[in-house]
Amino acid sequence: MKILSIESSCDETAAAVVEDGRRVLSSIVASQVEEHKIYGGVVPEIASRRHVEAISGVVKAALDQAECTIEDIDAVAVTHAPGLIGALLVGVNYAKGITMASGIPLVPVHHLRSHIAANYITHPELKPPFLCLVVSGGHSHLVEVMDYTEFKVIGYTHDDAAGEAMDKAARAMGLPYPGGLNLDRAAKDGNDKAYKMPHPRVDGAPYDFSFSGLKTAALNTINIAKQKGEEISVPDLGASYIKAVVDCLTENTEKAAIDLGYQTIVLAGGVSANSVLRREMTSLCEKRGWNLYAPELKYCGDNAAMVGAQGYFEFISGNTADLSLNACASMSIEQSR
Ligand code: KG4
Ligand code: ZN
Repeated sequence: MKILSIESSCDETAAAVVEDGRRVLSSIVASQVEEHKIYGGVVPEIASRRHVEAISGVVKAALDQAECTIEDIDAVAVTHAPGLIGALLVGVNYAKGITMASGIPLVPVHHLRSHIAANYITHPELKPPFLCLVVSGGHSHLVEVMDYTEFKVIGYTHDDAAGEAMDKAARAMGLPYPGGLNLDRAAKDGNDKAYKMPHPRVDGAPYDFSFSGLKTAALNTINIAKQKGEEISVPDLGASYIKAVVDCLTENTEKAAIDLGYQTIVLAGGVSANSVLRREMTSLCEKRGWNLYAPELKYCGDNAAMVGAQGYFEFISGNTADLSLNACASMSIEQSR
């Protein structure tokens, strides 16, 4: 079964053709990063306008690269939630237009579910159940993936998401947008013990996260150094900061896996590209004898191939929509519509 998939939840306009949820026939991503860079973050209004301009060309390129026409496509999957509302609406309306003209089914896909499904592309043998750490720009969740379309959130962030915490610290250290990636690169040879960072915990909620205190600690370190006329070492502060974020993520994942009896751990979302997170999770899973899965780097960030992968499992579980489908800025991963 071939699915044409569309993603426009943030600042990437993407389309793909994916066969049977695991085989990517094409994947096109038009990034707006260069334009948002001058503002230091995504400007929602600009993102929506660029999606409108790019979407037709991106969808056509995905069909061409897969050597398909719309007649070869069995369903259209689209990210409908969560994300920037104006950005989501562009993809949802475009997908509705295609299904109205062609009569093929429309499949709504939750953005975080699709981040998890990126792993089904990279690891054809991976099947639920497993424990997943979903870490993106807007979310940090520990999720029990009971089945392809059945999820239970057992841990979440009380303030900033892991990606947001990386982006804000990167900005304070004078690094350009996109912050997380540039912080990862800048900290590569830094000493992660050079600066003392807190390891915030949430009382009574062992799987939950809180990163705002950590971010404040980094900002205070930078401001105090400025006041004293001292230089900050960006590689060292970056490495210390990333290590603290990653320690929180790995410690909670380890605890949840032990408590709930999971031996398969999966990483998902933009922050799963982080080199320290991948390294620390690899060593945790080697130590414990657990299996670790993470998406190939090109499928960690936003793309439509992952939407096509999840779209397949949504379709076979009966989750299709009619033309009343709307976009939603926020929606729990446990909810499919
Ligand atoms: O999943 P994603 O592409 O978009 C959302 O759904 O939010 O995640 C984007 C987030 C951004 O905060 C970005 O800074 C972060 O992922 N990110 C990274 C790395 N690459 C992307 N954070 C740390 N290290 C990286 N290598
Ligand atoms: Zn995302």
